[in-house]
Amino acid sequence: MSALVVYESVYGNTHKVAEAIAEGLAAGAFAVSQIGPEDVSGLDLLVVGGPTHMHGMTTKRSRELAAEVARQDGEVDVDEHADSEPGLRTWLRTLPDGNGRPAAAFDTRLDSSPFLTGRASHGISSRLRRRGYDVLAFQSFLVSQSEGPLAPGELERARRWGAELAALAASAQPRLLGVS
Ligand SMILES: Cc1cc2nc3c(=O)[nH]c(=O)nc-3n(C[C@H](O)[C@H](O)[C@H](O)COP(=O)(O)O)c2cc1C
Repeated sequence: MSALVVYESVYGNTHKVAEAIAEGLAAGAFAVSQIGPEDVSGLDLLVVGGPTHMHGMTTKRSRELAAEVARQDGEVDVDEHADSEPGLRTWLRTLPDGNGRPAAAFDTRLDSSPFLTGRASHGISSRLRRRGYDVLAFQSFLVSQSEGPLAPGELERARRWGAELAALAASAQPRLLGVS
């Protein structure tokens, strides 16, 4: 099965989750700055994720702010290209039509009720749908504090979710081919 995980990350937590999901899927993980939207067409499964900022997807400004704070603190490394374009919003805007192909969305967010925290995976899911993808699942992975670390067990959960997605996408294939 051909699958890819595409992510953005400021403090590296979403990056780690993306790699764990990719491991579960036996696929590769790429930052939005590393792979063009035109390079992901024709996959059996596209998985897209990013951090939750201000109850939803990041903006260029929120990424700049997050990176600025971390650089001032000097305690957390900032992912390469975290505060430059393309961010996930721009990347998704230029994603070619998915023609009904399977996709999934994930985010990282604080460990509290999603009604309070919001979740970026909602915005990612609706953009994927608008681009013609069939979103099979979405999921949040939790950080203990804004800059991390991830809550205990989250990387293992991400690996399992990746494996579950592979099975879901395989069962979505007949639908894709128009065979019921
Ligand atoms: C500017 C900013 C706004 C944030 N807003 C939220 C929020 O509304 N809800 C939430 O759960 N977490 C929020 N967070 C915490 C992020 O979700 C957390 O930093 C992120 O999951 C870490 O992922 P990363 O290491 O990949 O950047 C915010 C963080 C920053 C820097």
